[in-house]
Amino acid sequence: GECRVTTTGTADWALKTSFNSYLEGPIANGTAYKYKSGIEVRDGVETSGERTTRQFTWPVEGSEEGTVNLGGGVHWTGHNHYDGDDESQVAGNFLLDLDFSNPTVKFDGNKGTLLVDFKSREFVDFTNAGEFLTGTQTELATITFDEPIDLTQENVTVTGQTTLSEIGVDVMGNFYDAGDELAPITLNLTNEVVCDEPEAPV
Ligand code: HEM
Repeated sequence: GECRVTTTGTADWALKTSFNSYLEGPIANGTAYKYKSGIEVRDGVETSGERTTRQFTWPVEGSEEGTVNLGGGVHWTGHNHYDGDDESQVAGNFLLDLDFSNPTVKFDGNKGTLLVDFKSREFVDFTNAGEFLTGTQTELATITFDEPIDLTQENVTVTGQTTLSEIGVDVMGNFYDAGDELAPITLNLTNEVVCDEPEAPV
């Protein structure tokens, strides 16, 4: 009969350790700015650590052939150029305003890609807020897994090394080059394979 795989679990992926450290440190959120922010997670993403030890654990929402769907979102903000007293002005004045949600891991053997929904202010200069760049399921990174992913196995734990895509360069404010290493991604998956009963002979 037909078989279906139901995948649950989590994925650990921190984006990039040096970026989290910069964002949570004095350059992006320090004394130069009256209003500071940092990192916020939502919709099932859990976080631990700070700066270089910051980690995000994303919920697995399911799988299809060659695809693991993650959920939730993370929002990074810094370099707030508003210094008045009207708090309603704060949220719109982060020159660094980056959001990733609903990552998707596509894989074929050891190779894969990481897609995300994103929203990120373009980096223009150090005083003017850029327009938002946005994308849906945009390829942010390529992945090389330490072993091929097989969703017919009950338990899968696999780690992939990730590198930034061309589009990812713009998303990250042009501070990195294509091919630069991002944080590794570790998938911790539990797969339940359910097959329909074969048709009874007439
Ligand atoms: C790195 C300043 C806006 C993304 C840096 C560094 C400085 C800086 C000084 C070097 C940090 C270091 O070496 O430790 C600023 C200022 C900004 C601004 C003054 C605006 C007022 C942005 C924006 C983005 C961005 C809009 C967009 C995402 C980055 C990234 C790095 C970086 C990805 C590299 C972090 C790393 O991995 O070390 N920035 N930046 N920045 N900035 Fe900004």
